[in-house]
Amino acid sequence: PPDDLTGTILGRIRDVPDYPSPGVMFKDITPLLGDHAAFSAVIDALVPGTRVDKVVGIEARGFILAAPVAYHAGAGFVPVRKKGKLPAEALEASYDLEYGSAVIEVHRDAFAPGDRVLIVDDVLATGGTARAAVELVGRAGAEVVGVSVLMELAFLNGRDRLGGVDLRALVVV
Ligand code: PRP
Repeated sequence: PPDDLTGTILGRIRDVPDYPSPGVMFKDITPLLGDHAAFSAVIDALVPGTRVDKVVGIEARGFILAAPVAYHAGAGFVPVRKKGKLPAEALEASYDLEYGSAVIEVHRDAFAPGDRVLIVDDVLATGGTARAAVELVGRAGAEVVGVSVLMELAFLNGRDRLGGVDLRALVVV
């Protein structure tokens, strides 16, 4: 991505120390979301260059980015949600977070067989969430063509947990 996009993003992500727990530096994207020019530039940059059938968004902040990306890509939107939030039959995967652990789910029938899927989230930290989402999409019978995030926290080496999946980050810190 061009340097002006990098600056636009970095200038609108607020570091909040000790949230949600002591020692964690939280990356708050709300200043970016509230700026129309910055938000639209980020969405445009996340739209894939290749055809995808579905864009997966990961609850909760991933939804905010993935839904407009799906719209612009001419693709459907699929939510990956925290356990217990999806109404129909779901597949689940557990993962460790930078702070704690959790289970995410996707509807078993969310994809047509062989659907090409882009997974979108705001931040790649340890990579546990993205790895679990990749696993879920595969178990649901679709093909992950990539994971795209607004920001990659490189010092946590999350990229290494994604195996061979194509990871794209608009900014790396
Ligand atoms: C954050 C972030 C990613 C995930 C990244 O979500 O939005 O989904 O953590 O961390 P990881 O790479 O270490 O797995 P969070 O679980 O805080 O959920 P939220 O968006 O609902 O606040």
